[in-house]
Amino acid sequence: MGVEVSVEGLTKSFGSQKIWQDVTLTLPAGEVSALLGPSGTGKSVFLKSLIGLLRPEQGSIVIDGTNILECSSKELYEIRKLFGVLFQDGALFGSMNLFDNVAFPLREHTKKSESDVRKIVMEKMELVGLLGAEDKLPGEISGGMRKRAGLARALVLDPQIILVDEPDSGLDPVRTTYISQTLIDINAEIDATILIVSHNINLARTVPDNIGMLFRRKLVMFGPREVLLTSDEPVVKQFLGGTMIGPIGMSEEKDEATMAAEQAMVDAGHHAGGVDDVEGIVPQMKATPGMPFRQAVARRQERVREIMHTLPDSAQIAIQESFEEGFGTYDTEEFPLYEEPLESV
Ligand SMILES: Nc1ncnc2c1ncn2[C@@H]1O[C@H](COP(=O)(O)OP(=O)(O)O)[C@@H](O)[C@H]1O
Ligand SMILES: [Mg+2]
Repeated sequence: MGVEVSVEGLTKSFGSQKIWQDVTLTLPAGEVSALLGPSGTGKSVFLKSLIGLLRPEQGSIVIDGTNILECSSKELYEIRKLFGVLFQDGALFGSMNLFDNVAFPLREHTKKSESDVRKIVMEKMELVGLLGAEDKLPGEISGGMRKRAGLARALVLDPQIILVDEPDSGLDPVRTTYISQTLIDINAEIDATILIVSHNINLARTVPDNIGMLFRRKLVMFGPREVLLTSDEPVVKQFLGGTMIGPIGMSEEKDEATMAAEQAMVDAGHHAGGVDDVEGIVPQMKATPGMPFRQAVARRQERVREIMHTLPDSAQIAIQESFEEGFGTYDTEEFPLYEEPLESV
Protein backbone atom coordinates (compact mmCIF):
# COMPACT_ATOMS: atom_id res chain seq x y z
CA MET A 1 0.00 0.00 0.00
CA GLY A 2 1.07 3.59 -0.62
CA VAL A 3 2.56 5.74 2.11
CA GLU A 4 1.09 8.80 3.78
CA VAL A 5 2.46 12.23 2.90
CA SER A 6 2.18 14.69 5.74
CA VAL A 7 2.70 18.39 5.04
CA GLU A 8 2.77 20.94 7.84
CA GLY A 9 3.07 24.71 7.83
CA LEU A 10 4.65 24.74 4.38
CA THR A 11 5.62 28.12 2.90
CA LYS A 12 7.27 28.77 -0.45
CA SER A 13 8.52 32.01 -1.99
CA PHE A 14 10.58 32.91 -5.01
CA GLY A 15 12.53 35.99 -3.95
CA SER A 16 9.97 38.42 -2.58
CA GLN A 17 7.06 36.64 -4.30
CA LYS A 18 5.21 34.44 -1.81
CA ILE A 19 3.57 31.54 -3.65
CA TRP A 20 1.65 30.02 -0.74
CA GLN A 21 2.04 29.94 3.00
CA ASP A 22 1.27 27.73 5.96
CA VAL A 23 -0.06 24.83 3.90
CA THR A 24 -1.00 21.89 6.09
CA LEU A 25 -2.52 18.69 4.75
CA THR A 26 -2.11 14.93 4.86
CA LEU A 27 -2.48 12.77 1.78
CA PRO A 28 -3.97 9.60 3.28
CA ALA A 29 -2.06 6.45 2.38
CA GLY A 30 -3.35 4.75 -0.72
CA GLU A 31 -6.13 7.26 -1.39
CA VAL A 32 -6.62 9.55 -4.37
CA SER A 33 -6.43 13.26 -3.54
CA ALA A 34 -6.74 16.30 -5.79
CA LEU A 35 -5.34 19.76 -5.37
CA LEU A 36 -7.38 22.38 -7.22
CA GLY A 37 -6.81 26.04 -7.80
CA PRO A 38 -6.92 28.70 -10.50
CA SER A 39 -3.92 28.96 -12.83
CA GLY A 40 -0.85 30.41 -11.21
CA THR A 41 -1.77 29.56 -7.61
CA GLY A 42 1.29 27.35 -7.19
CA LYS A 43 -0.10 23.87 -7.72
CA SER A 44 2.88 22.74 -9.78
CA VAL A 45 5.23 24.39 -7.28
CA PHE A 46 3.55 22.34 -4.55
CA LEU A 47 3.95 19.14 -6.51
CA LYS A 48 7.61 19.84 -7.19
CA SER A 49 8.14 20.62 -3.50
CA LEU A 50 6.81 17.19 -2.53
CA ILE A 51 9.54 15.41 -4.48
CA GLY A 52 12.24 17.79 -3.33
CA LEU A 53 12.75 19.53 -6.70
CA LEU A 54 11.86 22.85 -5.07
CA ARG A 55 12.64 23.81 -1.51
CA PRO A 56 10.01 25.54 0.64
CA GLU A 57 11.63 27.78 3.24
CA GLN A 58 9.35 26.84 6.12
CA GLY A 59 7.44 23.81 7.32
CA SER A 60 7.87 20.09 6.96
CA ILE A 61 7.08 17.34 4.47
CA VAL A 62 7.15 13.96 6.17
CA ILE A 63 7.17 10.90 3.96
CA ASP A 64 7.65 7.45 5.41
CA GLY A 65 9.02 8.93 8.63
CA THR A 66 11.51 11.26 6.93
CA ASN A 67 11.19 15.04 6.77
CA ILE A 68 12.53 15.66 3.28
CA LEU A 69 13.31 19.29 4.06
CA GLU A 70 15.84 18.25 6.67
CA CYS A 71 17.19 14.92 5.50
CA SER A 72 20.52 14.21 3.79
CA SER A 73 20.75 14.09 0.02
CA LYS A 74 21.23 10.33 0.27
CA GLU A 75 17.97 9.99 2.23
CA LEU A 76 16.21 12.26 -0.27
CA TYR A 77 17.45 10.03 -3.07
CA GLU A 78 15.90 7.02 -1.32
CA ILE A 79 12.61 8.84 -0.70
CA ARG A 80 12.43 9.90 -4.35
CA LYS A 81 12.39 6.26 -5.35
CA LEU A 82 8.94 6.04 -3.76
CA PHE A 83 7.57 8.53 -6.31
CA GLY A 84 6.23 8.23 -9.80
CA VAL A 85 5.58 11.60 -11.42
CA LEU A 86 3.67 12.68 -14.49
CA PHE A 87 4.71 16.26 -15.22
CA GLN A 88 2.41 18.67 -16.98
CA ASP A 89 4.10 18.32 -20.36
CA GLY A 90 4.56 14.53 -20.18
CA ALA A 91 8.31 15.04 -20.61
CA LEU A 92 8.85 12.21 -23.08
CA PHE A 93 12.05 11.88 -25.10
CA GLY A 94 11.04 12.87 -28.62
CA SER A 95 13.53 10.62 -30.38
CA MET A 96 12.60 7.45 -28.47
CA ASN A 97 9.59 5.31 -29.21
CA LEU A 98 7.05 4.77 -26.44
CA PHE A 99 8.54 1.43 -25.42
CA ASP A 100 11.98 2.94 -24.84
CA ASN A 101 10.49 5.97 -23.11
CA VAL A 102 8.58 3.79 -20.67
CA ALA A 103 11.54 1.42 -20.23
CA PHE A 104 13.94 4.29 -19.55
CA PRO A 105 13.70 4.41 -15.72
CA LEU A 106 14.07 0.62 -15.52
CA ARG A 107 17.21 0.62 -17.68
CA GLU A 108 18.57 3.64 -15.81
CA HIS A 109 17.82 2.68 -12.22
CA THR A 110 17.64 -1.11 -12.11
CA LYS A 111 19.72 -4.03 -13.31
CA LYS A 112 16.74 -5.89 -14.69
CA SER A 113 17.23 -8.13 -17.71
CA GLU A 114 15.75 -7.00 -21.03
CA SER A 115 13.11 -9.71 -20.78
CA ASP A 116 12.03 -8.44 -17.35
CA VAL A 117 12.04 -4.88 -18.69
CA ARG A 118 9.79 -5.97 -21.54
CA LYS A 119 7.42 -7.73 -19.19
CA ILE A 120 7.07 -4.70 -16.90
CA VAL A 121 6.77 -2.20 -19.75
CA MET A 122 4.04 -4.20 -21.46
CA GLU A 123 2.17 -4.61 -18.19
CA LYS A 124 2.14 -0.84 -17.61
CA MET A 125 1.31 -0.10 -21.25
CA GLU A 126 -1.71 -2.33 -20.83
CA LEU A 127 -2.75 -0.64 -17.58
CA VAL A 128 -2.78 2.77 -19.30
CA GLY A 129 -4.44 1.45 -22.44
CA LEU A 130 -1.50 1.81 -24.82
CA LEU A 131 -0.89 -1.77 -25.81
CA GLY A 132 0.03 -1.86 -29.50
CA ALA A 133 1.49 1.66 -29.56
CA GLU A 134 4.98 0.68 -28.33
CA ASP A 135 6.70 1.52 -31.62
CA LYS A 136 5.21 4.99 -32.02
CA LEU A 137 7.23 8.14 -31.51
CA PRO A 138 5.80 10.82 -29.17
CA GLY A 139 5.41 13.18 -32.14
CA GLU A 140 3.21 10.67 -33.96
CA ILE A 141 0.53 10.32 -31.30
CA SER A 142 -2.19 12.46 -29.70
CA GLY A 143 -1.76 14.52 -26.55
CA GLY A 144 -3.92 12.04 -24.67
CA MET A 145 -1.68 9.14 -25.67
CA ARG A 146 1.41 11.11 -24.66
CA LYS A 147 -0.11 11.61 -21.20
CA ARG A 148 -0.77 7.89 -21.00
CA ALA A 149 2.79 7.09 -22.00
CA GLY A 150 4.07 9.51 -19.34
CA LEU A 151 1.82 7.79 -16.85
CA ALA A 152 3.11 4.34 -17.83
CA ARG A 153 6.67 5.59 -17.38
CA ALA A 154 5.75 6.96 -13.94
CA LEU A 155 4.56 3.47 -12.96
CA VAL A 156 7.44 1.20 -13.99
CA LEU A 157 9.41 1.50 -10.75
CA ASP A 158 6.33 0.51 -8.69
CA PRO A 159 5.86 3.87 -6.98
CA GLN A 160 4.05 4.14 -3.66
CA ILE A 161 3.20 7.77 -4.32
CA ILE A 162 2.06 9.01 -7.72
CA LEU A 163 1.95 12.72 -8.53
CA VAL A 164 0.06 13.78 -11.62
CA ASP A 165 0.20 17.37 -12.84
CA GLU A 166 -2.85 18.33 -14.92
CA PRO A 167 -3.56 14.98 -16.57
CA ASP A 168 -6.41 16.67 -18.47
CA SER A 169 -4.57 19.66 -19.94
CA GLY A 170 -5.12 19.81 -23.67
CA LEU A 171 -7.61 16.95 -23.64
CA ASP A 172 -11.25 17.07 -24.68
CA PRO A 173 -13.93 16.21 -22.06
CA VAL A 174 -14.29 12.63 -23.24
CA ARG A 175 -10.53 11.98 -23.18
CA THR A 176 -10.43 13.61 -19.77
CA THR A 177 -13.00 11.10 -18.52
CA TYR A 178 -10.97 8.22 -19.98
CA ILE A 179 -7.81 9.38 -18.24
CA SER A 180 -9.81 9.87 -15.03
CA GLN A 181 -10.95 6.26 -15.25
CA THR A 182 -7.36 5.18 -15.83
CA LEU A 183 -6.22 7.00 -12.68
CA ILE A 184 -8.92 5.30 -10.61
CA ASP A 185 -7.97 1.94 -12.14
CA ILE A 186 -4.29 2.52 -11.36
CA ASN A 187 -5.24 3.22 -7.74
CA ALA A 188 -7.26 -0.02 -7.68
CA GLU A 189 -4.43 -1.99 -9.26
CA ILE A 190 -1.46 -0.78 -7.21
CA ASP A 191 -3.04 0.93 -4.16
CA ALA A 192 -0.58 3.84 -4.32
CA THR A 193 -1.14 7.24 -2.74
CA ILE A 194 -2.12 9.55 -5.61
CA LEU A 195 -2.13 13.34 -5.82
CA ILE A 196 -3.68 14.91 -8.90
CA VAL A 197 -3.11 18.59 -9.52
CA SER A 198 -5.79 20.02 -11.75
CA HIS A 199 -8.21 22.79 -12.51
CA ASN A 200 -10.68 20.51 -14.23
CA ILE A 201 -14.10 20.63 -12.59
CA ASN A 202 -15.40 17.31 -13.91
CA LEU A 203 -12.30 15.49 -12.79
CA ALA A 204 -12.48 17.16 -9.38
CA ARG A 205 -16.09 16.17 -8.89
CA THR A 206 -15.75 12.53 -9.91
CA VAL A 207 -12.24 11.21 -9.25
CA PRO A 208 -10.64 12.08 -5.90
CA ASP A 209 -11.38 10.72 -2.43
CA ASN A 210 -10.07 13.99 -0.96
CA ILE A 211 -9.94 17.49 -2.37
CA GLY A 212 -8.01 20.62 -1.48
CA MET A 213 -7.97 24.04 -3.04
CA LEU A 214 -5.30 26.72 -3.26
CA PHE A 215 -6.31 30.38 -3.52
CA ARG A 216 -4.78 33.69 -2.49
CA ARG A 217 -1.58 32.06 -1.32
CA LYS A 218 -3.42 29.76 1.06
CA LEU A 219 -4.88 26.30 1.17
CA VAL A 220 -8.59 27.17 1.38
CA MET A 221 -9.53 23.69 2.54
CA PHE A 222 -8.53 20.07 2.32
CA GLY A 223 -10.58 17.04 3.28
CA PRO A 224 -12.95 14.31 2.13
CA ARG A 225 -14.45 15.15 -1.29
CA GLU A 226 -17.86 15.84 0.22
CA VAL A 227 -16.49 18.75 2.24
CA LEU A 228 -15.38 20.76 -0.76
CA LEU A 229 -18.20 19.63 -3.04
CA THR A 230 -20.85 20.85 -0.59
CA SER A 231 -18.93 23.93 0.55
CA ASP A 232 -20.50 27.38 0.73
CA GLU A 233 -17.10 29.05 0.48
CA PRO A 234 -17.51 31.64 -2.34
CA VAL A 235 -14.22 30.80 -4.02
CA VAL A 236 -14.98 27.08 -3.99
CA LYS A 237 -18.50 27.58 -5.35
CA GLN A 238 -17.23 29.88 -8.07
CA PHE A 239 -14.51 27.45 -9.07
CA LEU A 240 -16.81 24.42 -9.21
CA GLY A 241 -19.42 26.40 -11.11
CA GLY A 242 -16.89 27.95 -13.47
CA THR A 243 -18.62 31.33 -13.33
CA MET A 244 -17.27 34.88 -13.45
CA ILE A 245 -19.09 35.78 -10.27
CA GLY A 246 -16.96 35.38 -7.19
CA PRO A 247 -13.54 36.23 -5.85
CA ILE A 248 -11.60 34.67 -8.76
CA GLY A 249 -10.89 37.31 -11.39
CA MET A 250 -9.38 37.38 -14.84
CA SER A 251 -5.80 37.48 -13.66
CA GLU A 252 -6.28 36.03 -10.23
CA GLU A 253 -8.38 37.82 -7.69
CA LYS A 254 -10.84 40.70 -7.41
CA ASP A 255 -11.48 43.41 -4.91
CA GLU A 256 -14.76 43.78 -3.02
CA ALA A 257 -16.00 46.68 -5.17
CA THR A 258 -15.59 44.74 -8.42
CA MET A 259 -17.36 41.76 -6.90
CA ALA A 260 -20.30 43.90 -5.78
CA ALA A 261 -20.58 45.57 -9.19
CA GLU A 262 -20.59 42.21 -10.95
CA GLN A 263 -23.15 40.76 -8.58
CA ALA A 264 -25.38 43.75 -9.38
CA MET A 265 -25.08 42.98 -13.11
CA VAL A 266 -26.06 39.36 -12.49
CA ASP A 267 -28.99 40.46 -10.33
CA ALA A 268 -30.05 42.58 -13.29
CA GLY A 269 -30.00 39.55 -15.56
CA HIS A 270 -26.45 39.32 -16.97
CA HIS A 271 -25.25 35.75 -17.61
CA ALA A 272 -22.00 35.13 -15.77
CA GLY A 273 -21.16 31.91 -17.57
CA GLY A 274 -20.50 28.52 -16.06
CA VAL A 275 -23.21 26.25 -14.74
CA ASP A 276 -25.90 27.61 -12.44
CA ASP A 277 -26.55 24.53 -10.40
CA VAL A 278 -23.47 23.15 -8.75
CA GLU A 279 -25.37 21.89 -5.73
CA GLY A 280 -25.21 18.24 -4.93
CA ILE A 281 -22.65 15.58 -5.45
CA VAL A 282 -22.24 13.22 -8.35
CA PRO A 283 -21.13 9.73 -7.42
CA GLN A 284 -17.42 9.05 -7.47
CA MET A 285 -16.04 6.99 -10.35
CA LYS A 286 -15.33 3.37 -9.58
CA ALA A 287 -12.68 1.00 -10.85
CA THR A 288 -13.58 -0.62 -14.16
CA PRO A 289 -15.41 -3.91 -13.64
CA GLY A 290 -12.88 -6.70 -13.58
CA MET A 291 -10.23 -4.60 -11.84
CA PRO A 292 -9.27 -5.48 -8.25
CA PHE A 293 -11.14 -3.84 -5.40
CA ARG A 294 -10.08 -0.29 -4.82
CA GLN A 295 -9.02 -0.86 -1.25
CA ALA A 296 -8.84 2.87 -0.60
CA VAL A 297 -12.64 2.99 -0.59
CA ALA A 298 -13.05 0.81 2.48
CA ARG A 299 -10.10 2.40 4.26
CA ARG A 300 -11.42 5.87 3.57
CA GLN A 301 -14.84 4.95 4.88
CA GLU A 302 -13.29 3.88 8.19
CA ARG A 303 -11.20 7.01 8.35
CA VAL A 304 -14.05 9.35 7.48
CA ARG A 305 -16.33 7.79 10.08
CA GLU A 306 -13.81 8.75 12.71
CA ILE A 307 -13.55 12.41 11.66
CA MET A 308 -17.21 12.71 10.71
CA HIS A 309 -18.16 14.75 13.79
CA THR A 310 -15.55 17.39 12.89
CA LEU A 311 -17.01 18.03 9.40
CA PRO A 312 -19.66 20.59 8.35
CA ASP A 313 -23.27 19.37 8.44
CA SER A 314 -23.71 19.48 4.67
CA ALA A 315 -20.65 17.26 4.22
CA GLN A 316 -21.84 14.85 6.91
CA ILE A 317 -25.19 14.46 5.18
CA ALA A 318 -23.53 13.83 1.81
CA ILE A 319 -21.16 11.29 3.32
CA GLN A 320 -24.00 9.52 5.12
CA GLU A 321 -25.93 9.32 1.86
CA SER A 322 -22.95 7.93 0.01
CA PHE A 323 -22.54 5.25 2.68
CA GLU A 324 -26.22 4.35 2.47
CA GLU A 325 -26.36 4.28 -1.30
CA GLY A 326 -23.27 2.15 -1.50
CA PHE A 327 -21.32 4.77 -3.45
CA GLY A 328 -18.72 4.92 -0.75
CA THR A 329 -18.11 1.27 -0.23
CA TYR A 330 -17.61 -1.97 -2.03
CA ASP A 331 -20.50 -4.24 -1.30
CA THR A 332 -19.75 -7.12 -3.62
CA GLU A 333 -23.10 -8.81 -3.12
CA GLU A 334 -25.17 -5.76 -3.71
CA PHE A 335 -23.05 -4.19 -6.45
CA PRO A 336 -21.11 -6.99 -8.11
CA LEU A 337 -20.08 -4.81 -11.05
CA TYR A 338 -20.73 -1.35 -9.62
CA GLU A 339 -23.02 -0.71 -12.48
CA GLU A 340 -25.03 2.26 -11.29
CA PRO A 341 -24.41 4.78 -14.07
CA LEU A 342 -22.48 7.95 -13.41
CA GLU A 343 -24.87 10.84 -13.61
CA SER A 344 -23.88 13.35 -16.21
CA VAL A 345 -21.93 16.21 -14.75
N1 LIG B 1 11.31 28.10 -10.62
C1 LIG B 1 10.57 29.22 -10.44
N2 LIG B 1 11.15 30.42 -10.21
C2 LIG B 1 10.42 31.53 -9.99
N3 LIG B 1 9.08 31.57 -10.01
C3 LIG B 1 8.42 30.42 -10.25
C4 LIG B 1 9.13 29.19 -10.48
N4 LIG B 1 8.21 28.20 -10.67
C5 LIG B 1 7.00 28.79 -10.57
N5 LIG B 1 7.12 30.11 -10.32
C6 LIG B 1 6.00 31.06 -10.11
O1 LIG B 1 5.13 30.49 -9.13
C7 LIG B 1 3.78 30.82 -9.42
C8 LIG B 1 2.95 29.56 -9.39
O2 LIG B 1 3.27 28.76 -10.48
P1 LIG B 1 2.68 27.31 -10.74
O3 LIG B 1 2.98 26.41 -9.60
O4 LIG B 1 3.21 26.87 -12.06
O5 LIG B 1 1.11 27.57 -10.81
P2 LIG B 1 -0.05 26.55 -11.22
O6 LIG B 1 0.58 25.21 -11.45
O7 LIG B 1 -1.02 26.55 -10.10
O8 LIG B 1 -0.68 27.10 -12.47
C9 LIG B 1 3.79 31.54 -10.76
O9 LIG B 1 3.68 32.91 -10.51
C10 LIG B 1 5.14 31.20 -11.35
O10 LIG B 1 5.59 32.24 -12.16
MG1 LIG C 1 0.78 23.99 -13.09
